Amino acid sequence: MKLPVTYKIEDKDGKARAGVITTPHGEIETPVFMPVGTQATVKTMSKEELLDIGSEIILGNTYHLYLRPNDELIARLGGLHKFMNWDKPILTDSGGFQVFSLGSLRKIKEEGVYFSSHIDGSKHFISPEKSIQIQNNLGSDIVMLFDECPPGLSTREYIIPSIERTTRWAKRCVEAHQKKDSQGLFAIVQGGIYEDLRQKSLDELSQMDENFSGYAIGGLAVGEPREDMYRILDYIVEKCPEEKPRYLMGVGEPVDMLNAVESGIDMMDCVQPTRLARHGTVFTKDGRLVIKSERYKEDTKPLDEECDCYVCKNYSRAYIRHLIKVQEVLGLRLTSYHNLYFLIKLMKDARKAIKEKRFKEFKEKFIQRYEGKE
Ligand code: GUN
Repeated sequence: MKLPVTYKIEDKDGKARAGVITTPHGEIETPVFMPVGTQATVKTMSKEELLDIGSEIILGNTYHLYLRPNDELIARLGGLHKFMNWDKPILTDSGGFQVFSLGSLRKIKEEGVYFSSHIDGSKHFISPEKSIQIQNNLGSDIVMLFDECPPGLSTREYIIPSIERTTRWAKRCVEAHQKKDSQGLFAIVQGGIYEDLRQKSLDELSQMDENFSGYAIGGLAVGEPREDMYRILDYIVEKCPEEKPRYLMGVGEPVDMLNAVESGIDMMDCVQPTRLARHGTVFTKDGRLVIKSERYKEDTKPLDEECDCYVCKNYSRAYIRHLIKVQEVLGLRLTSYHNLYFLIKLMKDARKAIKEKRFKEFKEKFIQRYEGKE
């Protein structure tokens, strides 16, 4: 069976990879940062702006789009690409992660997850079959398995049965997938901070490998210490099939991203850059900058003096600080634009460094400066 999403490695430097993912809506150069468009919009960003910052793929979310405006409505209107006027690749998360984040509002059973909507308390049920059906209706290029993402510090006793259920759910997802020719399915490896349990999860999922266009590493950056995340990445990523893309879910901190790339990760996403932006925190080569601070009141410099994004070429810290302080919409737009540009550019620079076989040096130089140790 020919899979609808394929990957080709172009260059390697250590374990870091530069490659190209091919999807029904075009190619993606990796490593890549994927902006999150939970509700069929990357918050504050128009399609034109997304293209302008070099986004090659964006995310959508099953849970949110099922609740509002509903996946069947989106299907009637021609699918998610048409609905949001985005004709490049889209990846949809399965809803598992969002449903599990509801805490007391949800109940996990073998058949699926019962939950109350965070919007109006109405009762719903998402099963592996339902999640895939919603993602089939949305028509994303990459569909994620419906998995359980246990909290970062879960015990082995909790995680073992959870992995086994996630594997049983994976089989049901594979069977339910109606659009195997046009939507690639990605597996999600769980297992918390335990190497052997990560291996168990990968071994079980690998039995269905012919159905998967890629492998995600889930259940990281969910409360565990950073060192544990790095240790697990270093252990498990290289064991995933070499010829398929590897996706680290929910990571969008520059230093973590470079360390993940060093372990062999190709794709990442996170709400962090846009969320931080809306609270007035921006990324710069010298670390995070809190633009609301008094010290930027009369600062005519751009957010990041070395950044060549549209915001940094046109607006001062003093102006953006003012906009954020008085809660003007333009302030949120400018900081969101800059933060997304920063992460997308970081991955493009990493790709170039991998191709030129100087990734380690590039990473170390970036981190030293970002963490203020230069
Ligand atoms: N987003 C961040 N982590 C996860 C995860 O473990 N599973 C899913 N489905 N989405 C995520």
